[in-house]
This record gives sequence, structure tokens and C-alpha cells, in this order.
Amino acid sequence: MIVDEPGFAARTGRLESPATIAMAVRARALRAEGHQVLSLALGEPDFATPRAVIEAAHRAALDGQTKYPPVDGTPALKAAIARKFARENGLDYKLSEIMVSNGGKQVIFNAFMATIDAGDEVVIPAPYWVSYPLAARLFGGVPVVAECREEDGFRLTAPALEAAMSSRTRWVVLNFPSNPTGAVMGLADLEAVAEVLRRYPQAWILSDEIYEHLVFDGARHHALAAVAPDLASRILTVNGVSKSYAMTGWRVGYAGGPERLIRMMTRIQGNATSGISSIAQAAAAAALDGPASLIGEMRDTYARRRTMVVEALRAIPGVTCAMPQGAFYAYPGIAGCLGRTSRGGQEVRTDEDFARALLEEQHVACVHGSAFGLGPYLRLSCATSDDVLREACARIADFVDGLR
Ligand SMILES: Cc1ncc(COP(=O)(O)O)c(C=O)c1O
Repeated sequence: MIVDEPGFAARTGRLESPATIAMAVRARALRAEGHQVLSLALGEPDFATPRAVIEAAHRAALDGQTKYPPVDGTPALKAAIARKFARENGLDYKLSEIMVSNGGKQVIFNAFMATIDAGDEVVIPAPYWVSYPLAARLFGGVPVVAECREEDGFRLTAPALEAAMSSRTRWVVLNFPSNPTGAVMGLADLEAVAEVLRRYPQAWILSDEIYEHLVFDGARHHALAAVAPDLASRILTVNGVSKSYAMTGWRVGYAGGPERLIRMMTRIQGNATSGISSIAQAAAAAALDGPASLIGEMRDTYARRRTMVVEALRAIPGVTCAMPQGAFYAYPGIAGCLGRTSRGGQEVRTDEDFARALLEEQHVACVHGSAFGLGPYLRLSCATSDDVLREACARIADFVDGLR
């Protein structure tokens, strides 16, 4: 769906409504009609924000932290972020190299607005989080896809990146652990990619590490700026509290990066929002300084659910599924299910047809892989209860069983 109506700026014509939102809207409509819809469409933790974090916000409000905060973030939160980068990532950012935004999403928005001119290329490994190409296009950028294939564990390889690079590359976006595949880049993978990046000194590098804590089976997350410190003057390390601490509604994201980029992004943010809720910032500082056990329990739950979902999907004829090493998504391949007709009489030629028919007939909401730049796959979010996941997998199996 493209927004293109009289009375609106040309740039709105580049603003597609993300498929993730479209599925959620349709799921809500079916629910309003009284259907029991199981939603595996949204990347939102089903845990509650830790109580100590909520209490910190309460205290901050009572203590009078209710005035306009500094545009780039409160000194307390920025200090907590600096400690977090040092402790968890081996990154030594000065406070002038850190800023807080309204979610990781606004970090990306600020960064692209500050740097992209019409025609600049933004290299995005696919499958990708839908917001990267949308934001790039909004500012006149041209998304260029670097394909991450299932046989490479959906990791980005140096040849795939090299093929996408040019003298017009303004940004390279890396997002590992990946939304939507859960792929994690090992040390050697990152070193190979860094070698390519060194040959394109004009390009900024956005490393979105928001799923860093959600890695399983002994896999380790490595921050790109720590693996390639010689590139640090071009790397924007993006992170936030939404995923790791179940704080999506608090809207706190942050970045570490070169001071000149952070300064320009701060100028943009100052004009747009005058900074981030002071109370949410107090909560985020408490989360980052809180015990690591807050994260560990959630991670173990996601890991267990992931295994359960992948095993259930693999048992369905025509469905393949890689075992994701991180994040909270499964990304099953459904090539073996296409070219048939559903029980309800819908032709299932593409992954989008599959996802639509699955929602209409079985009331399971997920998102088709081609919306993330690589089909025919589905993205299923495992950030929901075991019962819902089990029932959703049973309904998918029944749907596939009905294909003729
Ligand atoms: C890969 C990735 N990066 C960033 C974000 C932004 O999250 P937030 O704006 O809540 O910090 C998301 C949210 O879905 C995401 O999946």
C-alpha cells in the first residue's frame, strides 16, 4: 500500500505502510468480528517491564524529573549507556559520542536525515527489518539489497556485500542478531565484512545491535565497532531497551558514534522532539544498570520457544526451517507449499498469498518473507506464550494439510 493522495508532499508517496502493521490491522479486524486470532506478526516481547524499572520511573517523576531534558539525553542515562557499552561491548564512547532517541527507530531516522541526499545508496542486507528501506527512501536514498541466503545461515558474506557497494554508497546497514531471521554474525564473518567496508571510506556504517542479548546455544554477539576499531569513526552503534528489557512502550533507544555525526543528529532531534521523556530515561538507566538476570530469564524463554516452534514447523511437509541463533523470530521456508489451492479456495502462489490465506482461514497472523526482501518465507514472532505458539503451529500444519 502506497500513500499517494492530493494535498500531501511528494515524499509521502515513498512511505509504504509496513507489511507488519498491515497484518496486525487485519488481525485486529478479524478479532473484532469475534474470531480467536493468534498473532505472530509483531516483534514485541510478551513480558512485563521489570518492576524495578517501573519503580525507578515512579521515583524520577516524584523527585521532580519532569522538566525538558537535554536534547541528547539526561546525563544519568548517557552515563549508564557509556557504562553499558564499556561493560558489554568493549566500546569506549565518551558522553559526547552518545545520544538518546525516541526508540532505536528515531536514531535511524535522525542518522539518515542528517546524511542522505537524493540518489545516495543505502546498502541493506536482505532479509531486512522493513524500516531501513522505508526510512532511506523517505530522505531520497536508494536502497540496494545485499542478499543473505539460507545456505549461509542468513549471514552477510563479504562477496554479497561487495556486490552491493559502489562509489555512491552512503550507508551500510548491519543488523545482527537479525530481524527477521535471527542470524548472528560470528567474529570471522564480521572481520570479512569489515575488510570490504575498509575499501569504501565514504560510507557510514549503521550497526543495529538491538537484539544483542537474545543469542542462544552459546553464540556470542560481537559489536562491529569493537571488532573493527579502525572503522569506529564511521560506525553508528544503535541499540535500545525495547527488546532486551521488554520496554517497547517507553520509547528509549540510543546510539554511540563519532561526535560529529552525533552532534548533527542531536540538532535534528532538537528541532523534531526536544528530547525524550525524562521519566522514560530514568527507567532506561535503571534497566541498563540493573542485574543481568533481568535479561537471562527472558532469553532462556525465547530460546526454548524457538526450539519448540522450529521443531513443529520442520514436521510439516513442504516447510523447511533454519534454527535461528538469536532474536525471537522463526523464518520458515515455504517453497514446497506454493502453487496450490487452500481449503477455502484461495490460490497460494506466493508467500504473501500464503500469509493472507492463513490469516483468513486459520486466523494465524504472521508476515510473508518477501515483505522483508526475501521470499518465499514467513516470519513468525516467538515473543508470545507457549500455548499460542503451539496452537499456531498446529493451525499452520492444518492449513498446509489442506493445500491441494
Ligand atoms: C532490528 C530493529 N531495530 C530497531 C528496532 C526499533 O525498536 P525501538 O524503536 O522500539 O527501539 C526494531 C523494532 O522492531 C528492530 O526490529
